[in-house]
Amino acid sequence: MSQVLLVLNLLSLLSLSSGATSLSLGSRSILRAIDNENGGPHDYAVDLNASNFDSVIGDTPATFAVVEFFAHWCPACRNYKPHYEKVARLFNGPDAVHPGIILMSRVDCALKINTKLCDKFSVVHYPMLFWGPPAKFVAGGWEPKQEKSEIRLIDDGRTADRLINWINKQTDSSFGLDDEKFENEHLSSNVSDPVQIARAVYDVEEVTSTAFEIILEHKMIKSETRASLIKFLQLLVAHHPSRRCRRGSADVLVNFDDLCPLDMWSPSKQGDNNGEGTLGNFQICGKGVPRGYWMFCRGSKNDTRGFSCGLWVLLHSLSVRIEDGESQFAFTAICEFVHNFFVCEECRQHFYDMCSSVSSPFKTSRDFALWLWSAHNKVNERLFKEEAFLGTGDPKFPKMIWPPKQLCSSCRLSQSEKNNGIDWDQEEVLKFLTNYYGKILVSLRKDKKNLGNDRFDGFLEDLAVSANAVAVPLGAALAIAVASCAFGALACCWRSQQKSRKPRRS
Ligand SMILES: Cc1cc2nc3c(=O)[nH]c(=O)nc-3n(C[C@H](O)[C@H](O)[C@H](O)COP(=O)(O)OP(=O)(O)OC[C@H]3O[C@@H](n4cnc5c(N)ncnc54)[C@H](O)[C@@H]3O)c2cc1C
Ligand SMILES: *[C@@H]1O[C@H](CO)[C@@H](O)[C@H](O)[C@H]1NC(C)=O
Ligand SMILES: *[C@@H]1O[C@H](CO)[C@@H](O)[C@H](O)[C@H]1NC(C)=O
Ligand SMILES: *[C@@H]1O[C@H](CO)[C@@H](O)[C@H](O)[C@H]1NC(C)=O
Repeated sequence: MSQVLLVLNLLSLLSLSSGATSLSLGSRSILRAIDNENGGPHDYAVDLNASNFDSVIGDTPATFAVVEFFAHWCPACRNYKPHYEKVARLFNGPDAVHPGIILMSRVDCALKINTKLCDKFSVVHYPMLFWGPPAKFVAGGWEPKQEKSEIRLIDDGRTADRLINWINKQTDSSFGLDDEKFENEHLSSNVSDPVQIARAVYDVEEVTSTAFEIILEHKMIKSETRASLIKFLQLLVAHHPSRRCRRGSADVLVNFDDLCPLDMWSPSKQGDNNGEGTLGNFQICGKGVPRGYWMFCRGSKNDTRGFSCGLWVLLHSLSVRIEDGESQFAFTAICEFVHNFFVCEECRQHFYDMCSSVSSPFKTSRDFALWLWSAHNKVNERLFKEEAFLGTGDPKFPKMIWPPKQLCSSCRLSQSEKNNGIDWDQEEVLKFLTNYYGKILVSLRKDKKNLGNDRFDGFLEDLAVSANAVAVPLGAALAIAVASCAFGALACCWRSQQKSRKPRRS
């Protein structure tokens, strides 16, 4: 316990009081920069080729994909491009009007590398457009005579208008070429639908990668915050719901001293390859993230939800994944992370107060998960009043004491609300949280099939990958420590490493 209070000192609190406004600006500028790298400022459709086709399409959060097969020398294709882009603008990129629904992509069949790919789809003329669930495109194909293929030839998409009409028919929607951002009636805000949280696996990836971008942009890794970051990374390596983020966190952790040398922000290192150049190259959740939009945490206004919603979801999903023996460590890691790295002064301060008021160490994961849940509800209760007064909330997502009856009726003992709150059945709440943030919110793709031991097996596998990638003794030591007793030893090993490696200020 004393450790928490030690690190959560007032000094670092004051040094980071740059305020919440820079948070949104910072992350937005990063995302815009990333977008511009992908195929120029005006291309919304994603360029695919044989080497990235399966991975990009397989990893997309979108429900559907459109693939345009074309040839760069074909004049008809060049004339078609503005039409296709007009539609892609709606669905792709950080400024998409309707993100996460349809991935619009193209493959240049005139490039040698794509010959086989184009053959698989029996491409006979240009441009040729296909529609289908992304999974069906991966390792899939199309033949003219195939009757029941889930991949369909788009036979009426010659202009932007006709393409959007075709898509509307398929999806029973009313997308319009003139739709503007955050004016959309397609946003589902059914708070009583328990499966919505499955979409949040994209949000926890987005929040993880955005958090690290912000940490770098704001040069927040300092000698007094390094240990906190390492702790949080340890938690992510072991328990992040997304396998890609576990793997990336392991990479950062194993290489931490190289990626984040103690003098990474020193004046002599500025200008040339500073911290952004080293850790900045690291995509903690893989190349496809950040995407620049949110799925579960998407607000109906342009400045609501998003990052802070994603952070809550990540924290809850960690809290239901830890073992009893890790509960105090997880508590400390999360408190310190929010305190040192969440660029929202009010949030940090309030959360810090709640952390500090915990009087005895957590012994069970149950207690920690319930603590986090009730802390979140305290924030909700306070913000409910504030937002009602200031009108700053998201009208489609009003704050509430959570979970509402519709999500978990057994969580409330009596339907009548007692004097200052609801009478909860804590065991039912815990069961609900575990199912909601644990079972339903899991990595899609590979992770789904080996849910049972995924956590442990996946962890070892992730570490094996990163330990192979960098043949450093530290990596090996880490892997051994992990193999022997998983997370506890890892934490322990790292803490002693940090102690012996660097002078500590506190
Ligand atoms: C650590 C932390 C501290 C914050 N402190 C402040 C603050 O002091 N002032 C401020 O203005 N904003 C604060 N925020 C931001 C604020 O809490 C919301 O994240 C933001 O307003 C967006 O709200 P939202 O509607 O997306 O729902 P969020 O509150 O972000 O919740 C995200 C989702 O989690 C689920 N959820 C809701 N309540 C619970 C619960 N009790 N347990 C488990 N799951 C739940 C719901 O599905 C909800 O949609 C804080 C955020 C964090 C992460
Ligand atoms: C395939 O596309 C990726 C991403 O656009 C690019 O980096 C790569 O160089 C391309 N490969 C070839 C052979 O063109
Ligand atoms: C919300 O989701 C619940 C649970 O899936 C469902 O029963 C209900 O009909 C949905 N409500 C709306 C308005 O879609
Ligand atoms: C958010 O929306 C408001 C009103 O629609 C607009 O004035 C503002 O510029 C938008 N902000 C951003 C960052 O897009």
